[in-house]
Amino acid sequence: MSIDSTPEGWSVLWLEEVDSTNDFLRLGGHPPGTVVVAKRQIRGRGRRDNRWQSEEGQSRTLSVLLRPDAPVSLWPRLSLAAGLATAEALEAMGYQPGVKWPNDIWIRGRKVAGILVESSDEGAVVGIGMNLSMREFGPGIEATSLLLEDGRSWSPEEVLELLLPRLAAATFRIGPDFEELLEGVRQRCVLAGHHVHLRTSRGELTGRVSQIGSKGELMIETPDGIVPVIQAEEVRVI
Ligand code: BTN
Repeated sequence: MSIDSTPEGWSVLWLEEVDSTNDFLRLGGHPPGTVVVAKRQIRGRGRRDNRWQSEEGQSRTLSVLLRPDAPVSLWPRLSLAAGLATAEALEAMGYQPGVKWPNDIWIRGRKVAGILVESSDEGAVVGIGMNLSMREFGPGIEATSLLLEDGRSWSPEEVLELLLPRLAAATFRIGPDFEELLEGVRQRCVLAGHHVHLRTSRGELTGRVSQIGSKGELMIETPDGIVPVIQAEEVRVI
């Protein structure tokens, strides 16, 4: 299988089955720019030790090993970059996605894609799972798939053709051009104006989301003033 629009210096490995595409790259000794795409992921991981369900052909699971030129301290911005790239790719496919800060992509209030960025000795591994053709999800999971949205079935190649160039472009924007990247995220932020409950390492917080700040943080209006949140384990709209 080949992709016409593979970014310069990137190469794609297609696997039938893997434990987790993120682990494959984190542990594997591959060069930066390696993209791994799996048909089946048997121990796919989400954030907060969740599983990422990926039956054959129903979910597109891929990871990319990156070593951006920007300082390592800025690499956490890759979460927002990957979110924006995924949303842009979905727009090019005709959907109207939104970014649910920090790393979920929603369509009509339901999750269609999730992102897990992890560091490794060799760089940052950006993992993206996108629900292509699932018809149902486990109890309590508020998710959707592209098939459920409009009945269309997308091949992995079609998705990658649209996603990889956007991911490469967004990755370049974690340094001096971060404001540009943020503007794209802000325009698609589904939380702006909503009341949310957040669970962070510093405790729990409830308030109204004003916007995303200049460092990519979520700005929460509370009775005590605006609180910037850099990282959250859970963000729930209330
Ligand atoms: C989340 O929503 O919690 C993040 C989900 C990330 C899932 C992707 S699928 C490809 C890559 N490999 C993994 O094991 N996880 C990520």
